[in-house]
Amino acid sequence: MTALQVPQPDKERPSKDVAWYNPDVESNIRPEMRDLLLNYSKIPAEDLVGHITKVRDAAWDICPYPTVGLLLFLDFGIKCTDLPEPRAQLHTSILHTLMQGGKLLDVGCMFGQDLRKMVYEGAPVSSVYGTDLRGDYFPLGYALFKDETIIPQDHFIAADIMDQASPLCRFDGDLDVISTKDVFHCFDYATQIELAMRFVALLKPRPGSRAVGQHVGHISAGVYPTAFKDAGLANMFLHNDESFTRMWEEVGKKTGSRWRVESRMWKIKPHWEPVQVPGQPRGPDNRTLLFAVERL
Ligand SMILES: C[S@@+](CC[C@H](N)C(=O)[O-])C[C@H]1O[C@@H](n2cnc3c(N)ncnc32)[C@H](O)[C@@H]1O
Repeated sequence: MTALQVPQPDKERPSKDVAWYNPDVESNIRPEMRDLLLNYSKIPAEDLVGHITKVRDAAWDICPYPTVGLLLFLDFGIKCTDLPEPRAQLHTSILHTLMQGGKLLDVGCMFGQDLRKMVYEGAPVSSVYGTDLRGDYFPLGYALFKDETIIPQDHFIAADIMDQASPLCRFDGDLDVISTKDVFHCFDYATQIELAMRFVALLKPRPGSRAVGQHVGHISAGVYPTAFKDAGLANMFLHNDESFTRMWEEVGKKTGSRWRVESRMWKIKPHWEPVQVPGQPRGPDNRTLLFAVERL
């Protein structure tokens, strides 16, 4: 498997003069993120925009991901407030699992907004972990949420999720929930199968273990080559509901497990449609695919 080859910070700074760098921070602070930043992170309201801008621009220099440029990290992967179906019920049910002693790992967590929200809403700190290929994002997550004294640093693990010998092995068979936002679509189909199989190995081998999240989808499932070569992204496979379900059937066969797949595709916000993001065709056929996969 090929991990993403992201540019090193000492290389030339990525240009902000691209369609997927949105300078309008103010109107992209979703209400639930505003609440989190004001009341969990205690950022004064008048400093919010400057605070987010500073952290976002540091992350842009690490890798000019559309997630960073389009301020998509200001929404959550589980309770996705950008869409008409914010999945409050799923969010509450996961919160309940964590309050009962369950463990969540956010894969490709970048700033780790989903786990911060869980902690803010009452999940024990001991129940949440984040992992990302790039450990450089973790100090930025602490800078954004100002919670060094709340979440211990060893709850963020720099690792390639595909590497079966990585420090993530300590979670093998021990997780109740994996969340992952905007990660599946970074890979080709074969690598997505590998990713899902890694999830199966990490989750508790019992009914009720869950993988949840969202990623970019498309009405016509297939390979969409990307021009976003800087991040090593190529041949991204974008799913629709049918292809995503079929993929988990294949994963079930390969791992001797069975999974109930719920997925729903939503049209992206109309004002994003004209923003051409490399490898993520944005237009009338582009979708956000929300999913929750549960072991039977
Ligand atoms: C599009 S960003 C999404 C970030 C975050 N989940 C969000 O939506 O705000 C994809 C993230 O996946 C991480 N990533 C990519 N390949 C990975 C791998 N092989 N193992 C772990 N993380 C990976 C990247 O470093 C990046 O932070």
